Amino acid sequence: MKFFVDTADIDEIRDLAETGLLDGATTNPSLVAKTGRDFMEVLKDICATVDGPVSAEVTGLDAPTMLTEAEKLLKVADNIAIKVPLTWEGLKACKALSSNGTLVNVTLCFSANQALLAGKAGAAFISPFVGRLDDIGQTGMDLISDIRQIYDQYDSIQTEILVASIRSATHVKDAALIGADVATIPPNVIRQLAQHPLTDKGLDAFMKDWAKTGQSIT
Ligand code: E4P
Repeated sequence: MKFFVDTADIDEIRDLAETGLLDGATTNPSLVAKTGRDFMEVLKDICATVDGPVSAEVTGLDAPTMLTEAEKLLKVADNIAIKVPLTWEGLKACKALSSNGTLVNVTLCFSANQALLAGKAGAAFISPFVGRLDDIGQTGMDLISDIRQIYDQYDSIQTEILVASIRSATHVKDAALIGADVATIPPNVIRQLAQHPLTDKGLDAFMKDWAKTGQSIT
């Protein structure tokens, strides 16, 4: 499963990119607003830091405006993926962009039928929001299972399932168990993935015992 980082905070992205484990990044208007920075500058910085696709979201609500915005966003860097909302207008824009070879991430997906439409529109990524479904009392991960099952039945659908709105390490594990293609993960959750109290305890014991030997490897 590929790991994208879900933030527009360039310091966080630079720090995590040093691990060599980032496969891409996703932003949205709320994440950009949080930075207080110019959108284009933020995108340039992220694209220069992350090798894989960097999702940049359009803000127009009709397809022609989305396409005009996409044209501008695509000039920022070669690794821009255009993010459009899962509306009829977004799907029209997706179809037009994907037909020209542009990577499109269709966002704000909350149902299997929406994911099916995005697949038919040639999306490179569908972004189902698991955390927001959990928030309203549904089980977000059930949607990932449904989309996986549907996409796997049609060779014509090449869309990758990009699990979004991830809130916990358990979400990441569950997405991997289902066979999602990508998880876009907030920086704090990415860091949690490596943590286990028994790892810390075990390492502490090893270091204490090693010190007793008086040896050094270097
Ligand atoms: C995905 O691309 C979105 O940016 C993100 O995952 C939304 O997450 P949230 O529901 O925590 O805002």
